[in-house]
Amino acid sequence: MDDYEVCIHMRNVSTGTEMEGYLMKDVILAKFAEVFGDKEGAKAFFAPGRVNMIGEHTDYNGGHVFPCALTIGTYGVARKRDDNKLRFYSMNFEQLGVIESSLDDLKPYKEANWTNYPKGVMWAFEQKGMKIPCGMDLMLNGNIPNGSGLSSSASVEVLTGYILRDFFGFDVTNQDLALIGQFSENKFNGVNCGIMDQFAIAMGKEGHAIFLDTADLSYEYAPIKLENAKIVIACSNKKRGLGDSKYNERRSECETALAELQTVADIKSLGELTEEAFEAHKSAIKSDIRMKRAKHAVYENQRTVKAVEALKNNDVKLFGQLMNASHVSLRDDYEVTGIELDTLVEEAWKVDGVIGSRMTGAGFGGCTVSIVEDKAIDTFIDSVGKAYLQKIGYAADFYVVEIGDGPCVL
Ligand code: GLA
Repeated sequence: MDDYEVCIHMRNVSTGTEMEGYLMKDVILAKFAEVFGDKEGAKAFFAPGRVNMIGEHTDYNGGHVFPCALTIGTYGVARKRDDNKLRFYSMNFEQLGVIESSLDDLKPYKEANWTNYPKGVMWAFEQKGMKIPCGMDLMLNGNIPNGSGLSSSASVEVLTGYILRDFFGFDVTNQDLALIGQFSENKFNGVNCGIMDQFAIAMGKEGHAIFLDTADLSYEYAPIKLENAKIVIACSNKKRGLGDSKYNERRSECETALAELQTVADIKSLGELTEEAFEAHKSAIKSDIRMKRAKHAVYENQRTVKAVEALKNNDVKLFGQLMNASHVSLRDDYEVTGIELDTLVEEAWKVDGVIGSRMTGAGFGGCTVSIVEDKAIDTFIDSVGKAYLQKIGYAADFYVVEIGDGPCVL
């Protein structure tokens, strides 16, 4: 690959967001009119994607996470109907055309494809006693790389909940929207995800990451002040679907390890254990694999607490070292990285000016997140991009990102 090719795989999405949002509104309203006849009564919305800085696979173990919302995400246009019909269209899957359904048939179908996410949220509202009075036409256009581990599905879920609240006045907070999104993903779409993604998206705050304790949903916003550095996301372009990955398997390995530890310790979750307490009780876990999984959950949780402390002390260097340690643990103990993510991270570590780098999200493909000094960003993209292409055989994409707000009306 020559420099030009590396260059076209780099998209800088850090600038012009408001302008992009403004233009995007016109684009999606025009497309809505083209697909659904006219745009009379249609309203435009946005929900972000998210990146997790540290605290991976801790959210379903009662631990801490530290994600932030991005300025990239899902744009949507919706309009109420006077019947129960649902008509969906995605500019990201134009080949699928308009997919129709009905409020009278809120069930997941394989052929319903991505529409199972908004349908799942509608189903979840109804399960929680909020009857949806009429159907809608909904068109989406996302600029989160699909299947990249930046939570395109949670973004669609929160967006749908936000639209339902806006249209029908349901008495739910943004935190409720996160919980409803997670409930729909667990029960309608069959992925036992934790609360991190939906929470980060629904509660996002510009310039801040969210230090969330998943044990009780207490949280605080921490400003991300990187001075002369930026957050760079590298997308491996190895597609990942949580449903067919080993995500649910990891979760149940942790649950079994917890049950074993509960025979010797009075705990409700792995997140309650310090490293020392884990070492003292770990012999109760009767398999080496489960011991590694539980070790990751415990140590990663403690690392997350330390990382946020480091950030509060303006010690970005220590924060970066903890990010690196997080990746090693996800690679060796939790075993959710794979050659693509390991290559991106290990090549990143070689670049002078990289403060920290790790995989982000569920793993098994998807993205890495790195903190890179401004002066090293071009070199980073060039050298990691080239090494990745050479080793893996296809290119990675790079995104210099900004931390944005939660969902909104455009
Ligand atoms: C996915 C899930 C989250 C979380 C991460 C791993 O993104 O949706 O709940 O478990 O994986 O940290």
